Amino acid sequence: MTSLAGKTVLLIIGGGIAAYKAHELVRLLKTRGARVRIILTRAAEEFVTPLSLSSLSGEKVYTALFSLTDEVEMGHIQLSRAADLLVVAPATADLMAKMANGLADDLASTTLLATDKRILAAPAMNVRMWRHPATQRNVETLKRDGVVLVGPADGEMACGEFGPGRMAEPGEILDHIITMLQPRAQPLAGRKVVITAGPTREPIDPVRYISNHSSGKQGYAIARAAVELGAETVLISGPVSLAIPPGVQMMPVETAQDMLTACKGEMPADIAIFTAAVADWRVAGVAVDKLKKSAGKPPALSLAENPDILATIARGSPRPEIVVGFAAETERVTENAMEKLKKKGCDLILANDVSAGSGVFGGDRNKVHLISASGIENWPEMDKDEVGRRLMERLAHMLAPQQRAAE
Ligand code: PMT
Repeated sequence: MTSLAGKTVLLIIGGGIAAYKAHELVRLLKTRGARVRIILTRAAEEFVTPLSLSSLSGEKVYTALFSLTDEVEMGHIQLSRAADLLVVAPATADLMAKMANGLADDLASTTLLATDKRILAAPAMNVRMWRHPATQRNVETLKRDGVVLVGPADGEMACGEFGPGRMAEPGEILDHIITMLQPRAQPLAGRKVVITAGPTREPIDPVRYISNHSSGKQGYAIARAAVELGAETVLISGPVSLAIPPGVQMMPVETAQDMLTACKGEMPADIAIFTAAVADWRVAGVAVDKLKKSAGKPPALSLAENPDILATIARGSPRPEIVVGFAAETERVTENAMEKLKKKGCDLILANDVSAGSGVFGGDRNKVHLISASGIENWPEMDKDEVGRRLMERLAHMLAPQQRAAE
C-alpha cells in the first residue's frame, strides 16, 4: 500500500450531488497518511457540512474568501502553496468553466487560479451539461492547461438520466492522486526536442494564401508530452488557434521556407519530430498587389515545389539522434508511409489515415501506425494527448541506452 505520509492534498469540493463521495475520498487519503485540507464552495455547503469533513480530516475546513480569521490563519495563496496537489472533486460544470476562463470570485476559484501546483479534477454533472459544447470547450482548455481529468464515468445519474457525468469513484481518484504524487521521471532532462506543428500558409497575394486543415493539435500534444518528460522543447508552429503549451519555446512561422529556416536555426537537437502539414507547393511569384477579378478569366497560379523540411534535417549535419516524420495518407496508408520513411531518411514515421470522414485533421483523436526499419506497430485509436505521451516515452527509451553509454 503506497504511503502518502508527508504529502498534503488540497481538496476543493464543488456543489453537486456527488459531493457526498468526498467523505470517502478524505477517509482513503487519511488511511494513506496524507494531510487533507479542504475548501468547500458555497454551493457545496448545501450538500455536505464543514463539520463532517472537518471531523474526517482533522483539519479546519475553509469556505469564505473574505474571512479575516481565515486569511490571518492561512491565506488563500498559502493554502495552495502548502499543498502538493490540488484535487477538485466533484468538479461541477460551473467550477470547470471558472477554471477554464480564469475566473476568481470565491475561495475555491481564487485558490485554483493562484496555484502553481498540479491539479486533478473529477468532473460530475448531468449528462447534457457534460455533452454541451461549452463544457467540452472548457474540458479541452483545462487539458491544454495541464489539468488531469479522471472520469466522468458512464451510468445512471441522480437525475434519472443515463450517460457520462457520474463522478469517478473515490478509489479511482485515489489511484490518480497516488500516481500524480510520485516523483516524476524526467528521462529527457538535458535533451532538446524540436517539433513542427500546424499548417503552413503560402501567400498568393497580400490577402490570399494556400493552406490546409491542420489544427496543430497533434503537434502541440507531442510538445506537452516532451515538456512533461523534462525536455527542452522547441515548437515551430504554423498559424493555429491553440494556446502555447506551458514550458515550450514557441517559434511561430507562416510559410514552409520560414519553417525550414527556423528548424535549421534550432539544430543541433537530440530529437526532431515533424508533425506539421507543410504545403508541398508555394505560389511562384507572389503578387505584390491584390489580384483583381478580370472578366471571365481566373488567374492561373504557377506553383513551385517547397523544400522538404524533414528530409533536409534528416540528411543534414548535425543530424538529430532521432528524426521522426508523420505521413498523412488517404490510400495505401502503411505502404506509402514506408516509402516516405526511406525517401526522407527518418528513423520512425507515424502514418495516419486522413481520408475525408476520418476526423484526424482538426479532431481530438488519432489512430497511428508506428513504422520503423524493424516493422509496423498498429496503435489503437486514442486521444492525441495519449499518442503524444506514448511517442515521447518511446523516444526517451530509444535515447536511453546511448545516454548510458556516454556516462
Ligand atoms: O494538426 P492536426 O489537426 O492535429 O492534424 C494532425 C496531422 C494530420 C497534420 C498529423 O498527424 C500529420 O499527419 N502530419 C503530417 C502531415 C503531412 O504533411 O504529411 P505528408 O505525408 O505530406 O508529409 C510527410 C512528412 O514530411 C511529414 O512529417 C511532414 O511534416 C514532412 N514534410 C512534408 C512536406 C514538406 N515540404 N516538408 C516536410 O517536412
